[in-house]
Amino acid sequence: MIKFWLNDRPVELGDVAPTLTLLRYLRDRAGLSGTKEGCAEGDCGACTVAVLENDRSGERRYRSVNSCLLLLPMVQNKHVYTVEGLKQAGAPHLVQQQLTENLGSQCGYCTPGVVMALFEACYRRDLDEPWKLDAQMCGNLCRCTGYRPIRDTAKAISGVHPNDHFAAVRARVTPGSMALDYQRSGQRFVTPGSLPELFKVLEQNPTARLVHGGTDLALDITKRFLEPPFLISLEALPELRELSEGPGCYRIGGGVTLADLEDFSAGRLPPLERMLRYFGARQIKNRGTVGGNLCTASPIGDLAPVFLALDAEAILLSKSGERRVALRDFFTAYRTTALRPGEILGRLEVSPPNADTRVAAYKVSKRRELDISTVSACFAVEVDATSQVTAVRLAFGGMADRPRRALRVEQQLLGQDWTEASVEAALPALDSELTPLSDHRGSSTYRRLVAKNLLRGFFHETQSARMPGLSHPHTSTVGGL
Ligand code: FES
Ligand code: FES
Repeated sequence: MIKFWLNDRPVELGDVAPTLTLLRYLRDRAGLSGTKEGCAEGDCGACTVAVLENDRSGERRYRSVNSCLLLLPMVQNKHVYTVEGLKQAGAPHLVQQQLTENLGSQCGYCTPGVVMALFEACYRRDLDEPWKLDAQMCGNLCRCTGYRPIRDTAKAISGVHPNDHFAAVRARVTPGSMALDYQRSGQRFVTPGSLPELFKVLEQNPTARLVHGGTDLALDITKRFLEPPFLISLEALPELRELSEGPGCYRIGGGVTLADLEDFSAGRLPPLERMLRYFGARQIKNRGTVGGNLCTASPIGDLAPVFLALDAEAILLSKSGERRVALRDFFTAYRTTALRPGEILGRLEVSPPNADTRVAAYKVSKRRELDISTVSACFAVEVDATSQVTAVRLAFGGMADRPRRALRVEQQLLGQDWTEASVEAALPALDSELTPLSDHRGSSTYRRLVAKNLLRGFFHETQSARMPGLSHPHTSTVGGL
């Protein structure tokens, strides 16, 4: 039975397909049509709802999520709030009041989603810089009000944290276990509660598809109308949510959300922080995970170039224990990884860049926010006291059938002086090594030119900063330049 709380009322469902989205349930079955459908692919935010979740430290938080990308088993034992649930004792919620007073709605189609994104902002304690308000709201499109009144409202309510019903629920409620084995209409959805259970169900069902946040998988359901027969969710496994700093090593669990990773990387891993700024909407970052981004092995997945340049190691888990694979060997072909049957990505281990390392990440896309990369890159170079290159890693996305390093260019640079001339001399090797496609985002010629120019830009950045960061976060399509 699928069980959850919807606007403070318990819901139990045994007659729905496990691939029914929360959005479709709300609108078609629950009569809660305040939650809107715009794109059904996580781009517009009209379907935003809030879910109360335990964060990694056990503290409870409201998270804004796209209900069009959530399958019903993914809210097992969680508290879900829609725009209809915010009114308490006959009075609208603070964010609804403020949005009304600021004239933040015209046609109103986007408004329920805007309200729910603002709802999360209202209870966050970390929206302490103006750009963070933009990041909070960038997943909500509005076509007629204009963003100024919405942003004014965000400014007014962010972090207010009213002592209200929702604060009391947050303090009182502990979300229960997500473990579940649910079948209906020839489809099955299993959320194992422990690693041994996971490996057992994987062994018995080797063709089952693994899912975590579901931001990629849900598109198969909402856009391609597929009905996966067997899904195994990794969401109830605490081992995958590790995010820690040990001696000389960061450990980043495969189930860590992009939102949590962004918080963690701030001040620790600037290139990761820089890439995550332009990664996706808040709602997507609240659901998407490190493991999901890497294990789909997309040639344009934005985390891969960063972790490749940081020389990360992947720790793969199975019933036999752990297996270590250098991330450079993890992507084996188009959409294919080194994972064997019965294995999952447990965590990454990343060494902090040392004091001699210059490293930076870049993303080039047609639009700054919420867009797919045309080319992404992360470069790391170490030079000694005589300015000679002692180590270099140049990783690209969008330049081949998989995320990969430009090994021939690296070889050309190794042992050379880190100068403009040596960079220029090495660049032609990139043409023979990387074979980008031509598509609607850019021709292969364009991509090659961009890739070379990014490396040229990186060289010049390194002349003025050891580790280029986010000095001006909102001025460029190439993060932070
Ligand atoms: Fe557009 Fe869900 S309907 S993000
Ligand atoms: Fe019309 Fe936002 S108020 S789309």
